[in-house]
Amino acid sequence: MMLRKLLNSVDSQFLNGLKLQIGGSSYLASRSVFSLPEAVGLDSDRSDEENGEMDWDNLGFALTPTDYMYVMKCSRDGYFTHGKLNRYGNIELSPSAGVLNYGQGLFEGLKAYRRAKGAGFLLFRPEENAKRMQVGAERMCMPAPSVDQFTHAVEQTVLANKRWVPPSGKGSLYIRPLLIGSGAILGLAPAPEYTFLVYAAPVGTYFKEGMAPINLLIERETHRATPGGTGGVKTIANYAPVLQAQMRAKSKGFSDVLYLDSVNKRYLEEASSCNLFIVKGGVISTPYTNGTILPGITRKSIIELARNNGYQVSERLVSIDDLREADEVFCTGTAVVVSPVSSITYQGHRYRYRTGEETVSKKLYEALTSIQMGLVEDKLGWIVNIN
Ligand code: COI
Repeated sequence: MMLRKLLNSVDSQFLNGLKLQIGGSSYLASRSVFSLPEAVGLDSDRSDEENGEMDWDNLGFALTPTDYMYVMKCSRDGYFTHGKLNRYGNIELSPSAGVLNYGQGLFEGLKAYRRAKGAGFLLFRPEENAKRMQVGAERMCMPAPSVDQFTHAVEQTVLANKRWVPPSGKGSLYIRPLLIGSGAILGLAPAPEYTFLVYAAPVGTYFKEGMAPINLLIERETHRATPGGTGGVKTIANYAPVLQAQMRAKSKGFSDVLYLDSVNKRYLEEASSCNLFIVKGGVISTPYTNGTILPGITRKSIIELARNNGYQVSERLVSIDDLREADEVFCTGTAVVVSPVSSITYQGHRYRYRTGEETVSKKLYEALTSIQMGLVEDKLGWIVNIN
């Protein structure tokens, strides 16, 4: 209600559009530019199987542009309406768009898997992403789509791009919902118009190591989040600030950076792209989410699965000392799934961890992915089937 009033009070002008490449890769340059909103008819001649150009055995996390994206707008009244599928392509934004000038934006990430047997696709807990986007929207002063609108948009995006869903066991279709302040605004205030957009791309493993364990570097000087900030929501503004530390670590051969809390510089928060878990004497611990850590959906699912499998799981402060003594460390996230960590380097010391077949992380990885891929019965009701 308050937000709707705010939107109504914003006096702004829509400027002539500036064509921008969103998610631009050189591949995109050869594609047409589509303005929003432009609905298109689906190509009926595109069968699910027609995808000869894809090398399904070597999928990483590079962007492969797909066929369609879902777009839905919301203006001053605060309601999203008229969602539709557009051809995947560039979007048109005013140079004064709230997202470009003031970072008013959120994103989500979720995956669709192709069924191993029979037709159809499996989505993992899309309503959790929808709810997280609503919480983030509140923090970023944006209206958000309803859970039903969000889930419907995701389903439509998967079905329209079904030829891009990798064969079972080869990867998944990564779905990226965006919520952005697309309206023009000059003074610092919420944008007068919002766009919800869902695109998708086929992916395999996130880290270049593939399924191999990763090596992390603890960062002391750069912090991902601060108390009272936005670390606990999935705003786009949380990601560019970690690029410098991430690039530094990658240039030294590390896979990713682990961030410490900004107050004590002693407690572990998360990596640039995933949450963190440690295992000591069979007990699993993970930093509790207090506003500076992203409440990951994979994190939440792993906690539940681990408890169901008889493990004690503690959400608590996890210090550097805990890390020194841990038997096992692993990361979780939609993109990374469950990634075992073979070493963590802190102030020149490299701490090494157990990896391989008999580890807790391997068991939890199997338990999670067999639900996600439909290989076992979904007793927890986490899967949404789409056909
Ligand atoms: C995801 O895991 O879906 C994320 O959003 C992390 C991103 C940095 C790839």
